[in-house]
Amino acid sequence: MGLFSRKKAAFGLDIGSSAVKLVQLDQGTQGYALSRFAMVELPPDAIGEGMIKDPPLVVEAIKEVVGKAGVASKEAVISVSGRELIMKKIQLPKVTPKELEDAILLEAEHHINLPIEEVYLDHQVVGQSAGQSGTMDVMLVAVKKTKINEYVAVVEEAGLTPVVVDADAFAIQNQYEINNPEAGAEAVALIDIGASIMKTNVVRGGFSIFARDITFGGNNYTRAIAQRLNVPFEKAESAKRGESVPGVNWDELVPSLEAVSRELSLEIQRTFDYFASTTESERISRIVLSGGCARLPGIDEFLSSSWGIPVEVAKPFQNIRFDPNRFTADDLYAAGPVLTVAVGLGIRRDGDKPA
Ligand SMILES: Nc1ncnc2c1ncn2[C@@H]1O[C@H](COP(=O)(O)OP(=O)(O)OP(=O)(O)O)[C@@H](O)[C@H]1O
Ligand SMILES: [Mg+2]
Repeated sequence: MGLFSRKKAAFGLDIGSSAVKLVQLDQGTQGYALSRFAMVELPPDAIGEGMIKDPPLVVEAIKEVVGKAGVASKEAVISVSGRELIMKKIQLPKVTPKELEDAILLEAEHHINLPIEEVYLDHQVVGQSAGQSGTMDVMLVAVKKTKINEYVAVVEEAGLTPVVVDADAFAIQNQYEINNPEAGAEAVALIDIGASIMKTNVVRGGFSIFARDITFGGNNYTRAIAQRLNVPFEKAESAKRGESVPGVNWDELVPSLEAVSRELSLEIQRTFDYFASTTESERISRIVLSGGCARLPGIDEFLSSSWGIPVEVAKPFQNIRFDPNRFTADDLYAAGPVLTVAVGLGIRRDGDKPA
C-alpha cells in the first residue's frame, strides 16, 4: 500500500504517539541488512490517538532521531494509523487493471461516508476467483487528506521528503513477510499495540484479508496505574516499564494491569468478531504481537490463554543481517517489537508494489 509515493524511499520513519523511530535498511543480493536505527521519545501530549497536537515538538523529535541515527538521506517512508483510517475488503466483478481505477472510485463512494475529494484512496488486489469471469477481492484504504497533510507537513518541516505514506497495519505486514517468507495457508493476526492505537491486520498467504485500527494502547495501562496509585502519568509510565520508582512496587500495579488486560482482551474479541462477520468462517490460527505493549511481562501468555491459540512476539530483525560490531543481538531483540512498523517502512522501496 502507499497512499501516495514519489521517487526512491530511503529509510523508515515511524511517527508513533509516544516515540519516533527510524530504521534504515540496505538491500543487497542476500536480502536486507540493518544500516542504522534510532528512537526518540515524545512527550505524551505531542500526538494523541494518531493526531498531531503539537507539530513543533514532533518536528524536533524527527530532527533529533535523524541526527541520532546519522542518516544522510533525506527521503523518509512514513505511515499513519488510527480508527479514522478506512480499511475495507470489497468484492468486485473481475475487471482489467485499467478498469479497476474507475471501479474502485465508484465502489469507494459506497463505502466511505466522506466526500471522495477529501480522501486519499489506495487499493490492493488481495484475491480473485479462477477464470476470466467471477470476482476479485480488493483491500480499499482511505484516509482523510487533512490527516496525511499533517504528517507530511512535520516531516517536511524537519527537512525531509516523505516519499511514501503507508498505513502502520500494512507496514507490519511487510515486516512479517520478510521475516516469515513461507506464507502459510492459515490466517495470522498481526496485532501492534502502541501507546494509543491498536492495529490489527489479518494476513493469509501473503495478503491482508482484514485490517482495523482502534483506540487502545499502553496509555490505557499507564492511566490506570496513575489513577490507582494516585501518581503522575510519567511516574506510572516508569513503573509500568519495570523501572524502580520510589514508593511503588510491582505488586501494587498488578490489579490495574490485569483489569486493563481484560479490557484489551475484549477489544481483541470485538475485532475478531468483526473479522468473522466479514469473511467466510476463517479461523485465526496465531497472533503475532508487536508494539511497546508486547513488552508487558506476561501479555503473550495472557492472550494465548484467553484465545487458546499461540501468541508470539514479533522479531522484526529475524531475517535481517546486521554487523555484530555495530549492533548486538540483545539490543535488537529488546528493541524489536517497538521497531516493527519502522522496519516495515524501511523495507518499502518506491514502486515496489502495484498499490
Ligand atoms: N518494557 C515495557 N513494558 C511495558 N510497556 C512498555 C515497555 N516499553 C514500552 N512500553 C509501552 O509501549 C508503548 C509504546 O509503544 P510503541 O512505541 O510501539 O508506541 P507508539 O508507536 O509510540 O504509539 P502508537 O503506535 O499507538 O501511535 C507505551 O505505552 C509504553 O509504555
Ligand atoms: Mg506505533
